[in-house]
Amino acid sequence: RSDGFAEKEKTLAIIKPDGLYDNCTDKIKNAIFDSGFRIVKEMLIQLDEEAAMSFYAEHSSRSFFSSLVKYMTSTFISGPVLIMILEKENAVADWRALIGPTDASKAKITHPNSIRAMCGLDIQKNCVHGSDSPQSAQREISFFFKEKSSGSAVTEHDEL
Ligand code: PPS
Repeated sequence: RSDGFAEKEKTLAIIKPDGLYDNCTDKIKNAIFDSGFRIVKEMLIQLDEEAAMSFYAEHSSRSFFSSLVKYMTSTFISGPVLIMILEKENAVADWRALIGPTDASKAKITHPNSIRAMCGLDIQKNCVHGSDSPQSAQREISFFFKEKSSGSAVTEHDEL
């Protein structure tokens, strides 16, 4: 842009069930604000199996798929998730950088200041999700936040 205002970009972030325990949510939100993101929308939901399988469809052939879906949906072993749309310049790449590597146990060594190092535990309990590209971000945002009239996977839940 030539008017001096940088384009803002949106990404989809999820605080996973382990990230909603103890004071992790506050720590994660502080990291979000300290890094200059704005939370555009947020929604606390209990994911059901159908929604989680659809959201993670690209990983359906992976060995960890059923474990991941169970973890993201089980009301016994885990619980709800907090879905957020984050906005800032370069939001997609910056959020991925801020959360750190997938395996939180490795992140604690290689990226000690990352969110996963701070609040995650291992490769499954890694406390947060982030869209991996602008295209994924658009798809994932509409997956959760599409207008009710056009239908989305989880329209029955109210936004906070
Ligand atoms: S890959 O190989 O780059 O496509 O995978 P990656 O982006 O690292 O991970 C994709 C999502 O799968 C989760 N994941 C796992 N969950 C449970 N167990 C194991 N072993 C495992 N490996 C990867 C990982 O946390 C990613 O979830 P999201 O929600 O996208 O962060």
